[in-house]
Amino acid sequence: MSDSNDLNVKTGLRESATFDAATMTEIRRAAETGIYDIRGFGAKRKVPHFDDLLFLGASMSRYPLEGYREKCNTQVTLGTRFAKKPIVIETPVTIAGMSFGALSANAKEALGRGASAVGTSTTTGDGGMTPEERGQSTKLVYQYLPSRYGMNPDDLRKADAIEVVLGQGAKPGGGGMLLGQKITDRVAKMRTLPMGVDQRSACRHPDWTGPDDLAIKIQELREITDWQVPIYIKVGATRTYYDVKLAVKAGADVIVVDGMQGGTAATQEVFIEHVGIPTMAAIPQAVQALQEMGMHRKVQLIVSGGIRNGADVAKAMALGADAVAIGTAALIALGCNHPKWDEEFKKIGSAAGYYDDYHEGKDPAGISTQDPELSKRLDPVEAGHRLANYLRVLTMEAQTLARACGKNDLRNLEPEDLVALNVEAAAMARVPLAGTSWIPSQSY
Ligand SMILES: Cc1cc2nc3c(=O)[nH]c(=O)nc-3n(C[C@H](O)[C@H](O)[C@H](O)COP(=O)(O)O)c2cc1C
Repeated sequence: MSDSNDLNVKTGLRESATFDAATMTEIRRAAETGIYDIRGFGAKRKVPHFDDLLFLGASMSRYPLEGYREKCNTQVTLGTRFAKKPIVIETPVTIAGMSFGALSANAKEALGRGASAVGTSTTTGDGGMTPEERGQSTKLVYQYLPSRYGMNPDDLRKADAIEVVLGQGAKPGGGGMLLGQKITDRVAKMRTLPMGVDQRSACRHPDWTGPDDLAIKIQELREITDWQVPIYIKVGATRTYYDVKLAVKAGADVIVVDGMQGGTAATQEVFIEHVGIPTMAAIPQAVQALQEMGMHRKVQLIVSGGIRNGADVAKAMALGADAVAIGTAALIALGCNHPKWDEEFKKIGSAAGYYDDYHEGKDPAGISTQDPELSKRLDPVEAGHRLANYLRVLTMEAQTLARACGKNDLRNLEPEDLVALNVEAAAMARVPLAGTSWIPSQSY
């Protein structure tokens, strides 16, 4: 018995591992309300992740690079397959699509400012493109979503790339939600929706039923944009090997794979915790699919879902990603869940660090809200500056690790540089268990 709870130690009372306190609270809540739980954030359960991998730094058999003298490239070009104007990013960390509606206009602007300051891209979301965001983002990816909320062909042409969203890691197979309290006049106008009414967006695109239709849709988008900009396809990580093959065949320039830890603005808790596969497990499947088609590095792979630090960036890239995208971590860098708002979080039944009710629109930090007074609390210039600092740290940390492995480019990191701390991670990431040459699963 491994109870760490004081009560258990002192009294001998034993909490059930199956019906623990949180499970009982949820059963009571469901019994009282008859409503399933909706929340934002990503999966909170522990799943195999990048922390379960370690780098093998260089020593005798490998030659490390000198941090202050020898360069380690971080620039990546996205969309080299068909687009006339691929996107060049100075750091392989991009900002993931997060909707205006879920986030305040100030938060969207801050994301654009932070990304632009370090030469990377940011992405629109369900709900369309805001002028603040376009104005402050030097490289803006426009999402084309099943809901078509905020979809505007003129905005498509203003974008530097288009991301066709098939799914998200937090809810593969499910659609988005934006509850009435966040559908203000401006949000309603952009989405062509009535004000104040709950919105549940579609889980699949209205005009295609399979990969062949997707190929036609990609052609349409290329014609609207005159073959200038890259077309990305974003999928939630489930049957990633097959999805990546189909996306390449349909004509994608870039594939975005979002793992189950990926954040969301709002969906059912049961979805967030029980659908999809961990980010780390999805990458080798995607890379295998690309390699088998001779497309690895030709169709670029962006990975998201739980990226927090430069080690995560470097590990995702060592497994074969060309870049990563961040959502939750970017919001935290802006000031989401900051302890300075703890008293206010308590008033709405939460606490700093735990706040996930983005759908309620009461975020004291002014980020996941449409309340004009709360939104004012976020200064987009200052928040953008914090995000830029954070992005610089991620980049420098990833470079440090790459140099220690003897690599003069982040994309030269490879699975050979990694080992796993446990069997699960070894099997999912397809790298050897530390201290052995054993890879539990060699093929998919
Ligand atoms: C507040 C919020 C809003 C989001 N809105 C969208 C969206 O509109 N479209 C989309 O494809 N993904 C959306 N996502 C998911 C992100 O694009 C991304 O896949 C995810 O946040 C990555 O995982 P991470 O949060 O662990 O970095 C949203 C995520 C958050 C946290």
